[in-house]
Amino acid sequence: MKPWSPDSWRSKPIVQVPEYPDQAALAEVSSRLSRFPPLVFGGEIAALQSALTGVGSGERFLLQGGDCAESFVDFQAGSIRNTFRVLLQMAIVLTFSSRRPVVKVGRIAGQFAKPRSADTETRAGVTLPSYRGDIINGLDFEATSRIPDPQRMLQAYHQSTSTLNLLRAFAGGGFADLQKVHRWNLGFVSQSAQHERYEHMARQIDQALSFMRACGVTPENTASLRETTLYTSHEALLLPYEEALTRREGPEQQWYDCSAHMLWLGDRTRQPDYAHVEFLRGIRNPLGIKVGPGADPDRIRDLLDILNPANEPGRITLITRFGARQIAEHLPGLIRTIAASGHAVIWSSDPMHGNTVNSESGYKTRNFGHILAELRDFFLIHRAESSIAGGVHLEMTGEPVTECVGGAYEVTDTGLALRYQSQCDPRLNADQALELAFLIAETLNGMPAQD
Ligand code: PEP
Ligand code: CO
Repeated sequence: MKPWSPDSWRSKPIVQVPEYPDQAALAEVSSRLSRFPPLVFGGEIAALQSALTGVGSGERFLLQGGDCAESFVDFQAGSIRNTFRVLLQMAIVLTFSSRRPVVKVGRIAGQFAKPRSADTETRAGVTLPSYRGDIINGLDFEATSRIPDPQRMLQAYHQSTSTLNLLRAFAGGGFADLQKVHRWNLGFVSQSAQHERYEHMARQIDQALSFMRACGVTPENTASLRETTLYTSHEALLLPYEEALTRREGPEQQWYDCSAHMLWLGDRTRQPDYAHVEFLRGIRNPLGIKVGPGADPDRIRDLLDILNPANEPGRITLITRFGARQIAEHLPGLIRTIAASGHAVIWSSDPMHGNTVNSESGYKTRNFGHILAELRDFFLIHRAESSIAGGVHLEMTGEPVTECVGGAYEVTDTGLALRYQSQCDPRLNADQALELAFLIAETLNGMPAQD
C-alpha cells in the first residue's frame, strides 16, 4: 500500500475543485483552519461506523437527508430546527415500519461545496465561472462574486460549528421526545389529502406508544425516548478544507476528517487515480460513494479495493442514483458484481439526482412520482437479489418550499415559482419528505422481514 498523508492528494490530478487566484490567501486560511478545533471527534465517528455496521447486516436502517447545499444567506435557527424535526418525524415512521432502529445522518453542518456539470454559466451573452457552493464562491451572477475566495471556508467552518451546536442541543434537550414527534406526525396525517391512507399506521404507532407508557416506559424515565443522535455528513469535495480539518485521534492515533462524521465521494469525482479517492482512502470516517448510470460495476469494485482494502463492514455505503428510468437496467448487475467480489457494503438509494429535469416553467425540478418509483424499484430489486436495502439519501428541507412537483399537496409546475428557494438542486419540502417516509413504510411493510 502506497504511503498516505492528509496532503498526498495534492500530487494527483483533480477535478471539480477551483483554482484559487490568491494562493497565499488560500495557504493562510488553510493554516488557520488546521489549528481550529475539530467539529466532531474520532469517538463519535467510530460510533457511526458501528451503527452503520448494523445497517449493513440488516439490523438498522439508514436515513440520510438535508439540503442540496447549505447557504450563508439562509442561515437561521428555524430552518435547522425544521429540517431536524422532519428527519425525526420520518425516523419514527421508518423505525415502526422497518422494525429497525434508524441511523440518522444529516446533509448538514458542512454541506457547502457543489460539483457542477459545466465550468461556466452563460446568461444573456455573458459567461462567468459556475457557482460552486457558498464555501467556494457567490451565487450572484456577477464577475467578482464568482471568483473563488478562500475566506469563505472560514465562514463555512463557523456556520457548521453553530449549526452543530444547535443540533446537539436539540438532540439532547428534549426536542427529540418521541411522544412529541409522534404528535407532529398526527398533525400531518390529519391535514394530508391522503390521511385515510396514513391514519392506520399513525394509529398503530399511537397504540405502541400508549402500550409502552402503560408499561412504565416513558420519555421521562427512558433516555432513548427523549434523546437521539443526528450524525453529520457532506460531500468531501473541497479538499483544502477537508485536509485542514483532518486530525490524528484516539489511542491508535488514526486519521479522521473531523469536519463531519461521514463524508461521501460524488459521482463526478470518483476516478480511482485522482485526488478525491486518494484523500478519502486515508481517513477513518465512514464513506459514501455516489453511483450513477455512467458507472462501470467493475470500476466500483476497484474503488472498494482502494477505499476499503480490509473490507471493514460499515465503512462503505454505496449510494445509487440511477433515476427511475434506469435503475432496473443498472442496479441488479452492480449488486451481483459487488456480491461476487466479497465486499461488504451498505446499499442506500438517492432517488433525487437521477431524476432531475427542467420544468416547462424553466425551473430545475424533480417529480415526486419519479422519486417514489426509483425507491420502490430499489427495494424490489434488492429483495429479488437477496441483498439488503439499507437506507435512503434525500435532498429535503423542513421548510414549505415548492421545488419538487407532485406529492399529496400537489406542487404543480406553475406553482414552483411560489417558494423556489434552493441555490442548487430541488428539495422535497417537509410534507413531501414525510409523505415519502409513509410511502416507504408501506413498501417495507409489504415485504417479508429480511432477518
Ligand atoms: C449531491 O448529492 O448533491 C450530488 C451532487 O450528487 P451526485 O454526486 O450523485 O451527482
Ligand atoms: Co444535489
